[in-house]
Amino acid sequence: MSTVKEKLIQNLTEEDKTSRCKITVVGVGNVGMACAISILLKNLADELALIDSDENKLKGEMLDLLHGSLFFSTPKIVSGKDYKVSANSKLVIITAGARQKVGETRLDLVQRNLVIMKSIVPGIVQNSPDCKILIVSNPVDILTYVVWKISGLPASHVIGSGCNLDSARFRYLIGEKLGVHPTSCHGWVLGEHGDSSVPLWSGVNVAGVPLKSLNPELGTDSDKEQWKKVHKQVVESGYEVLRLKGYTSWAIGLSVTDLAGSMLKNLRRVHPVSTLVKGLYGIKEEIFLSIPCILGRNGITDIVKVNLNPEEEALLKKSADTLWNVQKNLEI
Ligand SMILES: NC(=O)c1ccc[n+]([C@@H]2O[C@H](COP(=O)([O-])OP(=O)(O)OC[C@H]3O[C@@H](n4cnc5c(N)ncnc54)[C@H](O)[C@@H]3O)[C@@H](O)[C@H]2O)c1
Repeated sequence: MSTVKEKLIQNLTEEDKTSRCKITVVGVGNVGMACAISILLKNLADELALIDSDENKLKGEMLDLLHGSLFFSTPKIVSGKDYKVSANSKLVIITAGARQKVGETRLDLVQRNLVIMKSIVPGIVQNSPDCKILIVSNPVDILTYVVWKISGLPASHVIGSGCNLDSARFRYLIGEKLGVHPTSCHGWVLGEHGDSSVPLWSGVNVAGVPLKSLNPELGTDSDKEQWKKVHKQVVESGYEVLRLKGYTSWAIGLSVTDLAGSMLKNLRRVHPVSTLVKGLYGIKEEIFLSIPCILGRNGITDIVKVNLNPEEEALLKKSADTLWNVQKNLEI
């Protein structure tokens, strides 16, 4: 007897089951799921794989997403503890790991998350040797170095989400001050994602008008308008959200998806992301820091050479020293 399916559908040719644009998210916590939902809503992937060590949570998150299949256009969502589910990924986003406790700095997290990276990265590379890895777990700059070392991938394929979020917060806050949408407020935060990040006041502009040409004291202590506070707020905003809701998720999910879009669609947009900066700006160590990078299908293909003023260069060097002081003691 024929089934309803057989009576309804006549097969003509074999289905091509190979994914062409697969994204894996490792870690289905608050950040991982914010990334997942925003990747689905932006239609970036034809397959989404989720991996986590907590099997019940993983299954629950996958089912919850699948029940919303009617409302997005990603035909395949898979999940599992085994890294085989990530096979053939174009991009793997790592959000797994311990998150900051209230009062804990991002750098304090390093040892706990180093151990976790060691358990994650070999499985990723084994199953997707040509993938790009985007690291979000904190402290993101040091863990990007750690993942680069463990993975054996070229540095161009291992990218830290870095200051993409800090710069988005910077532009939002400038926009609030001026009453202009953040997309029209241009400004870059470079260096460490976090406490020692460096705002490039010399480059802040709206419609090509440098704000420093209107107020030469912009970003300095002697500025009567105290624009410097905008960067202070950028540094504090992660901690503030953490204090208020216990974690951060939506803004990081959106900013990671923006990076994924540049890579998967080969957009070659410029983003402040964490990359190997040895040999640049007087930095001699193997440190990952955010500088403006061109992101495309091959990961970071180019960097933009920013002319830093002596004060900015000194701050970037200080940011590098802060990271090196933690990184040099790590046993990978
Ligand atoms: N780079 C940024 O801008 C940024 C912003 C926000 C948060 N973060 C970082 O992202 C990370 C995740 O934050 P969260 O709020 O989602 O935390 P969370 O605790 O909600 O989720 C972490 C997930 O990782 C999983 N996990 C732990 N060890 C694992 C392992 N060995 N293998 C697979 N999965 C494992 C846990 O089961 C959990 O589901 C933290 O390190 C946090 O500091 C980074």
